[in-house]
Amino acid sequence: MWDAKLYDGKHSFVWKHGASLVELLAPLPGERILDLGCGTGHLTAQIAAAGAAVLGIDSSPPMVEEARANFPDLRFEVHDARQLAFADPFDAVFSNAVLHWIVEAESVVRGVVRALRPGGRFVVEFGGKRNVQNILAALLAGLRALGVEDNVSPWYYPSVGEYTGLLERAGLEVTFATLFDRPTSLEGADGLRRWIEMFGGRFLERVPLDRREEFFLGVEAALRPLLWRDGAWFADYRRLRVVAWRRVLP
Ligand code: BEZ
Repeated sequence: MWDAKLYDGKHSFVWKHGASLVELLAPLPGERILDLGCGTGHLTAQIAAAGAAVLGIDSSPPMVEEARANFPDLRFEVHDARQLAFADPFDAVFSNAVLHWIVEAESVVRGVVRALRPGGRFVVEFGGKRNVQNILAALLAGLRALGVEDNVSPWYYPSVGEYTGLLERAGLEVTFATLFDRPTSLEGADGLRRWIEMFGGRFLERVPLDRREEFFLGVEAALRPLLWRDGAWFADYRRLRVVAWRRVLP
């Protein structure tokens, strides 16, 4: 279960980096826009500020509750991104830093296509190929050191080719796609462990409580030469950013 308050506090970089994606969306007054995976609603509010009619959806009830508390004048609902179904189509579907959590990418993309009107656009950013590869390797090595065998990533990090191919097969036309490094600073000397606590539950739950300190120390030691710079931790994020259109058939 997500801790929505913590997400808005020490992990607010997640939505702060999304502001430039809203610029790429370029929402217009009166447009109907779906914010897929809205979290605590900050980007939904930026889209609404442009005069668009925006619906924020998230699969996490605590996130939706927090979004409603943050922005009581906006609409937020709980929905599963793998089963999108709406009565009225949207001019655009927007999604920031969410789709790497859903390995059933094909179901998501099919739902996005259903949600768009012909001529509508999909503007999306999430973790791309080799996102957090050093963190992932250190987490798996840390588990192995405790005798826990695991080599499965809980995340979906496609390449440009994989994801744009998926979008094209679903009937969208891709007009922009890029994969880029975004080293992301994590607040404080304990920033890496806070990140693992927030986002790495699938790994931590395999570590007995009385061995957590040993686990964290091992992961930090492995990553310090790679991700500790100028007195701060930097997560090795890589972002995939794509714009794709549901074309009007001739
Ligand atoms: C990301 O934004 O890339 C990310 C966030 C949490 C876990 C893994 C990746």
